[in-house]
Amino acid sequence: MDKEALNALMKPKSIAVIGASATPGKIGYTVVKNLLDSKFEGSIYPINPNADEILGLKAYPSVKDVPGPVEAAIITIPAKYVLDVIDELGQKGVKGLAVITSGFSEVGEKELELELVRRSNSYGMRVLGPNIVGVLSNSGKMNGSFAPTLPLPGKASLVSQSGALLIAIDMATFTRNIGFDKLVSNGNMADVDFADMIDWLDQDPDTQCISLYIEGFKDGRRFLESARKASKPIIALKAGVSAHGAAAAASHTGSLAGAVKVYGAAFQQAGVVQALDLNDLFNRTLALSLQPPMQGDNLLVLTNGGGVGVLATDAAEKSGVPLKFAPPDVQAELKKHMPEFGSAKNPVDMTGMAGNEWYYKTVKFSYSHPWVDGLVVLYCETAITNPLEIAQSIKRAVDESGIKDKPISVSFVGGQRSDDAMRWLVENGIPAYGAPDVAVNALGALREYARMKALIKDSPDICEEYDRDTALKVIEYARNDGRDSLTEIEAKQVFEAYGIPVTPTALAKTEQEAVELARRIGYPVVMKIVSPDILHKSDAGGVKVNIKDEASAREAYNTILKNAKNYKAEAVIHGVAVQEMAPWGTEVILGSVNDPTFGPTMMFGLGGIFVEVLKDVTFRVAPVASSQALRMLGEIRGAPILAGVRGEAPRDREALADVICKYSTMIIDLADEISESDANPVLVYEEGKGLKVVDARIILKKK
Ligand code: ACO
Repeated sequence: MDKEALNALMKPKSIAVIGASATPGKIGYTVVKNLLDSKFEGSIYPINPNADEILGLKAYPSVKDVPGPVEAAIITIPAKYVLDVIDELGQKGVKGLAVITSGFSEVGEKELELELVRRSNSYGMRVLGPNIVGVLSNSGKMNGSFAPTLPLPGKASLVSQSGALLIAIDMATFTRNIGFDKLVSNGNMADVDFADMIDWLDQDPDTQCISLYIEGFKDGRRFLESARKASKPIIALKAGVSAHGAAAAASHTGSLAGAVKVYGAAFQQAGVVQALDLNDLFNRTLALSLQPPMQGDNLLVLTNGGGVGVLATDAAEKSGVPLKFAPPDVQAELKKHMPEFGSAKNPVDMTGMAGNEWYYKTVKFSYSHPWVDGLVVLYCETAITNPLEIAQSIKRAVDESGIKDKPISVSFVGGQRSDDAMRWLVENGIPAYGAPDVAVNALGALREYARMKALIKDSPDICEEYDRDTALKVIEYARNDGRDSLTEIEAKQVFEAYGIPVTPTALAKTEQEAVELARRIGYPVVMKIVSPDILHKSDAGGVKVNIKDEASAREAYNTILKNAKNYKAEAVIHGVAVQEMAPWGTEVILGSVNDPTFGPTMMFGLGGIFVEVLKDVTFRVAPVASSQALRMLGEIRGAPILAGVRGEAPRDREALADVICKYSTMIIDLADEISESDANPVLVYEEGKGLKVVDARIILKKK
């Protein structure tokens, strides 16, 4: 039913316009006119109880009166009448509804919107919208919208949650020279959402790249699933980057997780390339729609100008594809096609003397060379060259090389002649940009896409061995005790049940017990207050470290209790935790939140000031495979500290990645129970020596 309904929306053979109007300026008029102007080849049925004819087409009072079948309906009547027409549309066998009408959940009319979807779905109809501009398709010759015209034809398709932006992009396709096959406005996304559109567009032979403008969605996991399995590149611009829920967060991780970080993490895991802004969306979409992914890191830059070469070099570093010198054989061959004072390193500077032939030869040679994984060709307009001829030389070299599995992008900097040459290049399948950094950034996107997809392929997710029953017993005990947070000892028991190493910890209720436990664990030990009412133990003077003997243990026990009572007289105190004083290691923090869109989500960062001050942390939606976790470790600014700096041995990153995987399994498996959690600090030792969780916090979901 779904595929059929979406086909009906996207490629209908017959469309009824409910609320078609003969009055110019009305949306119901514009939609009919647009369908006619775009030369829609299917049947168009204007529906209007008061008209016999609209724009030369026979009009019908109701869809029931239409003689033939109707696959799709575009609705342009006011919101208060929309429900009245759903039954007859369903009975007529309509499959897809594009509801242009505004006045639903976006103005608080949630129930009206729910009922629209409920009723439509009961007939097997799917609803696009409401509150949309419509659907535009070049290959379908269908402007089923009130946007002025079909976009410049191209190989990408765009789905936009903002209608106004969709219209703006539609018009900008002509000035920016980037084409789209389809533009889909999904508005309130009451029914058909991004996941549905990704699934459909991934099967659409006229779409090579799926471009998304996202404000937010309800079911992040559905999006993740569809995006992960998509075979075509997806690029997303996410708007609305303010942190959410942070103020109310009880854990450290909760206060650091903002929408922007979690969306960014989800995009990584789903293999979705992120656009930084609208320009970036245009530029990267162009590259992703015209060129294959870049499968290796070797980017070669050819240029006739040193300046643009340097700009490209800077951009390469920023875009995650830093330039390396080409091997000697590549340099030797390139040297033949430039004057003595040229440079065959990377960027390859053929100098301002470079003409058609040099461009042709260097492009053909380097594009075919196995060392080169991606090529950027730069050109500064000169008086001794003709931009169009340079463009044609590049294209001829690319075609004659026979290479189809590596990307190329071009930047011409100059005047109108350069712009015209770039237009020609784009029409001939080569992305071309007016600035060198943009051309490099475009290949950066193709590299990033290939990297993310490779990681998805070798990511068998979840860690399988754990003891859920023990964890649930600990949680149940705390709940029966009337608490919605676990004590440190309890939290560590839960972590242990999922195979996460923790420092041995036990609870002392008397001074004597504390001394006996310390002896059993072995000096030196750490002692900490255990109270459900004191979450920030150090602030309360509730932590003593490096306790080396019995006398100090007794003193510490009593001081901790006294401090805790001074800090919060009414606090319930369970006792004092006595634990192994773990040897020094690199401090990291692991944690989890329940993101409102994506559900259980993991955080990793370096501890201490790195997390407190620099907020140098990174996220992934759980579950997190160890290969993804390893990527997380490399993502933070402090990554070199784990790799080993100033002669220190590298830290045990494998063990850390393994624990991230286990932790993420825990938060998925206990998703109904755990709201937020932290393991902070976790001490990570040298390679092969593992790690230990020293302190732990779990906050339960309220039931
Ligand atoms: N069946 C068929 N036709 C009907 C029915 C019915 N049940 N009921 C009314 N009509 C006819 C009307 O008689 C009228 O035809 P007429 O011009 O011959 O009289 C036609 O449908 C339209 O109805 P109107 O009451 O004239 O409504 P109007 O055209 O003013 O507005 C609209 C309707 C466009 C749906 C409006 O309510 C609306 O929602 N506008 C906002 C749409 C929008 O912007 N969406 C995208 C948001 S994204 C962005 O911002 C770009």
